[in-house]
Amino acid sequence: MPTALASLVNHQVRLAARPQGMVKPSDWQFTEEPVAEPAEGGVLVKVLALSLDPAMRGWMNEGKSYIPPVGLGEVMRAGGIGRVLVSRNPAFKDGDTVTGGPGVQEYWSIPADQVKRSGVAKIDLRLGTVNQWLNVLGMPGMTGYFGLMDIGQPKPGETVVVSGAAGAVGQTVGQVAKIKGCRVVGIAGGPAKCAWVVKELGFDACIDYKAGDVKAGLKEHCPKGVDIYFDNVGGDILDAVLARINRKARIIICGAISQYNNEGAVVGPKNYLSLLVNRARMEGMVVFDYAERYPQAIAELAGYLKDGRMKSKEDVVDGGVAAFPAALPKLFSGENFGKLVLKVADA
Ligand SMILES: NC(=O)c1ccc[n+]([C@@H]2O[C@H](COP(=O)([O-])OP(=O)(O)OC[C@H]3O[C@@H](n4cnc5c(N)ncnc54)[C@H](OP(=O)(O)O)[C@@H]3O)[C@@H](O)[C@H]2O)c1
Repeated sequence: MPTALASLVNHQVRLAARPQGMVKPSDWQFTEEPVAEPAEGGVLVKVLALSLDPAMRGWMNEGKSYIPPVGLGEVMRAGGIGRVLVSRNPAFKDGDTVTGGPGVQEYWSIPADQVKRSGVAKIDLRLGTVNQWLNVLGMPGMTGYFGLMDIGQPKPGETVVVSGAAGAVGQTVGQVAKIKGCRVVGIAGGPAKCAWVVKELGFDACIDYKAGDVKAGLKEHCPKGVDIYFDNVGGDILDAVLARINRKARIIICGAISQYNNEGAVVGPKNYLSLLVNRARMEGMVVFDYAERYPQAIAELAGYLKDGRMKSKEDVVDGGVAAFPAALPKLFSGENFGKLVLKVADA
């Protein structure tokens, strides 16, 4: 093994306990391992940046979901971007920048038989930066794009409401809906986020749900009702929007972050009969179902970034994997402003 590789240590964060309610520091365990030279067909990746996602909270729970839970003692699952340090696989060269699911650790060693299954793929940094590849060009961008376009099916002149508007998914949804000719109303927490989506992203309006009455805000800013609601938060905000939907409205159930830390059961919408009255539909989506079409969406979104029609805002936390336990809760307190990224190493 080259001496440089032999001296490397892989610092990792593992799941130590299944949280009740909000995630705590004691739910994590720090470990370290030597970094090994990959065997024939394998790839060794140095992690540059990790995607911190609300879904991580769900992956910590026992029970059936769209993906198995992270096992106790396992390295915490995380998407990320890295650089190939050593490739013994013909599909990759040393120095390639790749996307995939390295987990919360500094080095990702992918054995030959897992290279295909791991989803590791080369990315083109001419289309966007490492952080943009975790945001608009990455999983959140794909979620916003396909949720809006496939399920929402926006038409020019329609009114689109998106919650979590200043977050990773929300910023893509609102900007793409504007490009497609819709009236876009965001819902976000606090004056700074609301001002940003209107002034910088060009949304028509934004309702600060922390300042008060979402119902009144919807009435004021959606005078023709709501045709598409892209729901990132669930809870009372979903009920408020259901009360304003139009006939044949489409509601995309992307997430329900207001419910992820409940100690009891998830609380569903009370106003669901509005779907009946308005012949509307509500449909869940999981981004991974669109994986084969990511290249098409990436090409379109990269074009908008390049010609200035779209912006991509990331909130980058420094400090490497050791900073992960303190960074993740920011998603649930709303402290993140833009896509939450954990920087692990210099690009
Ligand atoms: N279905 C899929 O395939 C898929 C894929 C990716 C993400 N998602 C979902 O999409 C949603 C957004 O994810 P993201 O990565 O873009 O996160 P994000 O919006 O960048 O960050 C989370 C934001 O949620 C808001 N929030 C937290 N607690 C809240 C509450 N109780 N009520 C209302 N808002 C609250 C906060 O913004 P404020 O400051 O505005 O409150 C916070 O900044 C999540 O529900 C996530 O699970 C789904």
